[in-house]
Amino acid sequence: MSHYVNPSLTAVAAALDSGKVAWRSPSNLALIKYWGKHGRQLPRNASVSLTLSAAHTNSHLSFEKNDKQSGIDFELRYDGIRKEAWEPKTVKFLNSISDVYPFLNGYTLQLDTINSFPHSAGIASSASGMSALALCLVEMEQLLFGTEYTQAEFLQKVSYLSRLGSGSACRSMYPYLAAWGETLHLDGSSDLFGVPVDGVHEVFKTMRNYILIAGREEKSVSSTAGHALMDSNLYADVRYKEADLNFGKLMPALYEGDVKTMGEITEHEALTLHALMMTSHPSYILLLPNTLILLQKIRAFRADTGVPVYFSLDAGPNPHVLVPDAYADQVESFIESELLQHCHEGMMIKDQVGLGSTKLA
Ligand code: PMV
Repeated sequence: MSHYVNPSLTAVAAALDSGKVAWRSPSNLALIKYWGKHGRQLPRNASVSLTLSAAHTNSHLSFEKNDKQSGIDFELRYDGIRKEAWEPKTVKFLNSISDVYPFLNGYTLQLDTINSFPHSAGIASSASGMSALALCLVEMEQLLFGTEYTQAEFLQKVSYLSRLGSGSACRSMYPYLAAWGETLHLDGSSDLFGVPVDGVHEVFKTMRNYILIAGREEKSVSSTAGHALMDSNLYADVRYKEADLNFGKLMPALYEGDVKTMGEITEHEALTLHALMMTSHPSYILLLPNTLILLQKIRAFRADTGVPVYFSLDAGPNPHVLVPDAYADQVESFIESELLQHCHEGMMIKDQVGLGSTKLA
């Protein structure tokens, strides 16, 4: 969107020499999946996600004016330890937004970041990490240039920048549920930034989400490579059509509190995501034997007990267990007695739908 491109935001015009900002941003779980993109990080279909809470990133960004005038000066620390190997990825992102934030060129930036979950737990940290960084950058802009944003404008700009770093990240800052991608099924939706999904039934605002760690290995194929493989996947067009149909069916279920419809669509979307990976050329499989055991057991428990518990998956082997808050105790006992034995070292992360990003002191 052209109004985000602002060549006058240069280091020379900035009001401050140094400062520090800090934000927390959560991960999110897509019910309708984004898989396939084009242009400058634009989605092939609209997606909707639940904002999580316990799985989050805390980021502190320090900035200090320098006189180098060229190239971005950047240092990354994770849990206080410099991670030089991780720096090029963030530098690439910061360079890629030089049309929006030309001032970054005149500052030395230091990002101190930490995830609430072990960084090699097989949980993608790009959504929480990228959105936490974007939150810091937009606050930095406000401090340097006195830009005044309403809360909604602030989050929209954060979402716009997050999207340029990682598509799924542009849904993380909003409370409860967020959507990204233009669709007739949601007013105000856009390909350029995520928007909050307001007015959903209470049952989804308090939904529990348990992340079962079936495997901790790094993904064998990155999301970037996975999205690119959609360009030559013969099922892609049908997939994008189905995603939109699913979006249209999901929205009324979210407003009405129809957990069954939400759950059925969510499971179908998760399996479709992995089916697309398996039918790409070259094909790849991120699911592990334990993933399948876990999915089967969740379905069997639902059939036996009538408890409305459903699963989802990200681009990895770790199932997310979704259940209304009212069934949390029953499902936790089931997880402990039946599911943890199939998890890596019995690992599970207890999470729930949350309120989005928060400013840190
Ligand atoms: O945000 P990326 O480019 O890492 O893509 C990840 C997309 C999925 O997590 C697999 C699905 C989604 O919509 O979050």
